Amino acid sequence: MNESRWRGVIEEYRSFLPVNSHTPVVTLNEGNTLLLFSKKLSQKIGTNAEVYLKYEGTNPTGSFKDRGMTLAVSKAKEIGSKTIICASTGNTSAAAAAYGARAGIKCVVLIPKGAIAMGKLAQALIHGATVLAVDGNFDEALAVVREIAQKYPMTLVNSLNPFRIEGQKTGAFEICDQLEEAPDFHLMPVGNAGNITAYWKGYKEYRKRGKIESLPRMIGFQAAGAAPIVHDKPIEHPQTIATAIRIGNPASWKGALAARDESGGLIDCVSDAEIIAAYRLVAETDGLFVEPASAASIAGLLKLARKKYFRKNLKGPVRIVCVLTGHGLKDPDRAIQTIPKPKVIPPKMEAVLKAIKSR
Ligand code: F0G
Repeated sequence: MNESRWRGVIEEYRSFLPVNSHTPVVTLNEGNTLLLFSKKLSQKIGTNAEVYLKYEGTNPTGSFKDRGMTLAVSKAKEIGSKTIICASTGNTSAAAAAYGARAGIKCVVLIPKGAIAMGKLAQALIHGATVLAVDGNFDEALAVVREIAQKYPMTLVNSLNPFRIEGQKTGAFEICDQLEEAPDFHLMPVGNAGNITAYWKGYKEYRKRGKIESLPRMIGFQAAGAAPIVHDKPIEHPQTIATAIRIGNPASWKGALAARDESGGLIDCVSDAEIIAAYRLVAETDGLFVEPASAASIAGLLKLARKKYFRKNLKGPVRIVCVLTGHGLKDPDRAIQTIPKPKVIPPKMEAVLKAIKSR
C-alpha cells in the first residue's frame, strides 16, 4: 500500500482527535477536498482580495458531513453501539447511512417530510438506513431523536454528539495546510450551527499548536426565512429553498455566537433570490455545482462586498475562504427549476444551427 496516499481525516489528523490505538477507524477516505482560487470572484470583490472556495462536495457522500461522521461512527463502533440515529435535512442522514453501512451498524434517520433534496433521500435509502419521514420540520425531528437517544441504546450522530464537531474541525486544519496560514475571513452557511462551531474550534487548536499565527474572522450566513441567530429568537416555521439550512432553532446556537464574537466576525442572512443568483454564478463562472445552501457563502460574500465590508478591514492582501458545503447533484430538481428546459429540435443540422443562433 502506498503510504503517501490520503488516508481520511482520522489518520491524517490523529494527534488532534480523541482516538486511541483501539478505536476502529471507519473511513471512506474523506477530506482532502479542493481549495480553489477564484479569479472572477476575487476581481469582483476588489483590490487585493483573494477568494478561495473550499469545495466540500468532493467528499465521498458529497458534503462536509463525512468529516464528523467518520469520527462519530468510529467512536460508536468502539463502544459497541449497534444502532446510530439522527435527524437531518438530508446530508447528515446521507453520511450517517454510508458510514453506518461501512461499519456494519444499523442506521435510523428522521427527515422532515417532503423537505429534503431527492439525491440525499436516495443516498439514505440505498445505504440501507431505516428512513422515517416526520410530519414536522427538522427542529421537531431533532427533538424526537434526542429523546430516543437518551432513553434507548442508540447513538445520536447529530452534531450534538461531540465527536461530530471533533471530526468536523479538520476542515479548518485543511484550509490552513492548503493556504499555509489561516485566511483573514472564513465564510460559511449556518443551519444547525455545528459546522461554524467546529471550524472555529479547529482554527483555535491549530494556533495553539503553532501551526498558524493568526485566526480568521468567522462569518456565517443563514437563509432570510430561517435566520434565528440573526433575529436572536427561534423561528417556529423556517422557510427557504435552501432546504439543508431550513432550521429554526439551531442546536449549536451558543457555539455560533462564540465563533462570531471571539473572532470579531458576524452572522447575517441572505435571501432566497440572492442564494439562487450565487448558485448560478459559481456554476457559470467557476465551474462548481453546489447545492443551494452552499451558495449562501457566495451570496453572503457578494452582500458584504457591496457594503464594502472587506475594504474597510483591508490593511494588506485579504484572503477570504468560502466553504461550499455540498454538491449540487444532491438537489438536481433545483437546477432544473432554475434554468429553462432544453429546447426540443428535430435531428437535423439546420435545426441545431438555427437553435444555437437564436440563443
Ligand atoms: N450546508 C449544507 C449543505 C448542509 O447540509 C448543512 C446542514 C449546512 C450547510 C449547515 O451546517 O447545520 O452545521 O450549521 N445540514 C444538516 C443536515 C442540518 O441534517 O444535513 P450546520
